[in-house]
Amino acid sequence: MPQTTLRTKVLELGEKIIPSFVVDENIAPVFDKLCLYFGTKNNGYRKKGIMLIGRVGTGKTSLFRIFDQFTRYWHRENMFVLYQAKEIERIYTKEGQVGFDKILYNSCPWFGDPNFQKIYNICIDDIGTEAKAKNYSNAIEPIEELILSRYELFVSKGTLTHFTTNLSVNEQKKRYSNRAISRLNEMCQILSLQGSDRRL
Ligand SMILES: Nc1ncnc2c1ncn2[C@@H]1O[C@H](COP(=O)(O)OP(=O)(O)O)[C@@H](O)[C@H]1O
Ligand SMILES: [Mg+2]
Repeated sequence: MPQTTLRTKVLELGEKIIPSFVVDENIAPVFDKLCLYFGTKNNGYRKKGIMLIGRVGTGKTSLFRIFDQFTRYWHRENMFVLYQAKEIERIYTKEGQVGFDKILYNSCPWFGDPNFQKIYNICIDDIGTEAKAKNYSNAIEPIEELILSRYELFVSKGTLTHFTTNLSVNEQKKRYSNRAISRLNEMCQILSLQGSDRRL
């Protein structure tokens, strides 16, 4: 798909999902990069995931909701499952390791070959908002654990994990361990969304 068609398609979809959706100067640089990222095949080079950083209300979740729908229709090879960080915390609290593994190894029968299970790419929305999850006596940092485990999948299979967060890189360093931060750097490219809170 040519770049202009691609952009128009995503914009139309965006307006359907978020009636007020506009691509203004704050969002345009990130919007265009994401159109290319999700709207093209992997041309031999290894793709990294996306770490989308921006203040509250700048439109991070909206973008991933749009590209979630877009990839389902037009670029299934770039499809991902969208989770809220807080939802992951609740799943771990309720279901423990079993629930955690469901998210980690989220898999689907792959095109044409139902015997072949491909592990889905996932997006974890709003990391840093989750609390420690308590399952029986085990308190774990569910997102920290997921970062470490999803990194192994990235290295062995190229499976991608995307993130959105209000935390700056420095704040991320305070929240997560050095091991997790170092892996995040390798498995993601950072995109920064500018602007102020669109809810105000
Ligand atoms: N590009 C946009 N144009 C207009 N409104 C938007 C845009 N992106 C998001 N919004 C609206 O702004 C609000 C905040 O967006 P959201 O994606 O939840 O922000 P974040 O996840 O960064 O906190 C929502 O009400 C959403 O509908
Ligand atoms: Mg959000």
